[in-house]
Amino acid sequence: MKTSIEMGNAGIQNAAKLLLSGEVVAFPTETVYGLGANIGNPLAIQKIFTVKGRPSDNPLIVHIAEFSQLSLLTPRISPRVKLLAKLFWPGPLTLVVSKRKEISSLLSAGLQTVAVRMPSHPLARKLLYACNVPLAAPSANSFGKPSPTTASHVYEDLHGKIPLILDGGPCKFGIESTILDMTTSPPTLLRPGGVSLEQLEKHLGRVTLHPVVKDPKVKQVFAKAPGMKYRHYAPRANVNVLLTRKELETVAVAEGKNKTTHFLVLKKPLTGVVNQTVYTCASHLAHDLFAAFRRLDAKNTTQIIVQAPSESHVGRGVRNRLLKAATHINDKN
Ligand code: TXA
Ligand code: MG
Repeated sequence: MKTSIEMGNAGIQNAAKLLLSGEVVAFPTETVYGLGANIGNPLAIQKIFTVKGRPSDNPLIVHIAEFSQLSLLTPRISPRVKLLAKLFWPGPLTLVVSKRKEISSLLSAGLQTVAVRMPSHPLARKLLYACNVPLAAPSANSFGKPSPTTASHVYEDLHGKIPLILDGGPCKFGIESTILDMTTSPPTLLRPGGVSLEQLEKHLGRVTLHPVVKDPKVKQVFAKAPGMKYRHYAPRANVNVLLTRKELETVAVAEGKNKTTHFLVLKKPLTGVVNQTVYTCASHLAHDLFAAFRRLDAKNTTQIIVQAPSESHVGRGVRNRLLKAATHINDKN
């Protein structure tokens, strides 16, 4: 199958036609690129799993254009869900709610719940309006690879397997949406992302952190969704995460001249390091993180040493992705 990369309104119309005829199509969102399928077509949903090589016990997120579409997916909308939708949709927040029986259990991997979000990227919104049905869409990477944040990342992973990639340029946030389980009381944070825990707690009071969020090394026994057990976001290179600048400086002395090592650091460059990328803040690192993983793999970097941002606001999401990708974590402090 030939994979075309298309832009603009003509691209949206072609993408919508393909989706409504049961094909899967990649499209941009403000977080990462998604691989979409019509939720009403079980064969199309099955294609997502086949194309990505995704295990069937890992549920998908449903994307909607308008709040009114939420009631197609869930029988009850609580006041708290309504409030969060009002505050954060469209945007990078996924809410887990109870699932209508009619919604395919292939999509929810057999769970009684469904994860829903309303993306804010203008192309995603136009595409959802053009289709006039919700779209199931996981990140558009091959299983195990870092999520794609440009159309060419999607092409790298999926060309020949899907007919069309809608190109909307680089994604604004660069890491996946926050996932909040609204079926527990208090709600449970299942994945930190663009909408921060601090923002959520401001409006909800207490939010429970899932054990996997507290410590991404916690194994699958605690996983809420089966998908949480898989190692994600990992480049081929070893990823070493350092939690303090002091540790980073020590490692820079030992590893800084190593040509196949690359440092990703915050704010100030390290002295005596040949390969480094400096980010102004945690959001800047989030925006480039998965792209950097792919770039460095292409350069045959064998080791990536990353300065973890502090565990607050968007830093929590970045840290979570880093620890998931890490082969070694120095957590002595
Ligand atoms: O930003 C995003 O959320 C991107 C864009 C494309 O929207 N999508 C994304 O999808 O990251 P994916 O499939 O890579 O991650 C979805 C995660 C799964 O790993 C699964 O753990 C969780 O969402 N999930 C889906 N349905 C769930 C449910 N009913 N209960 C708990 N977790 C669920
Ligand atoms: Mg994914």
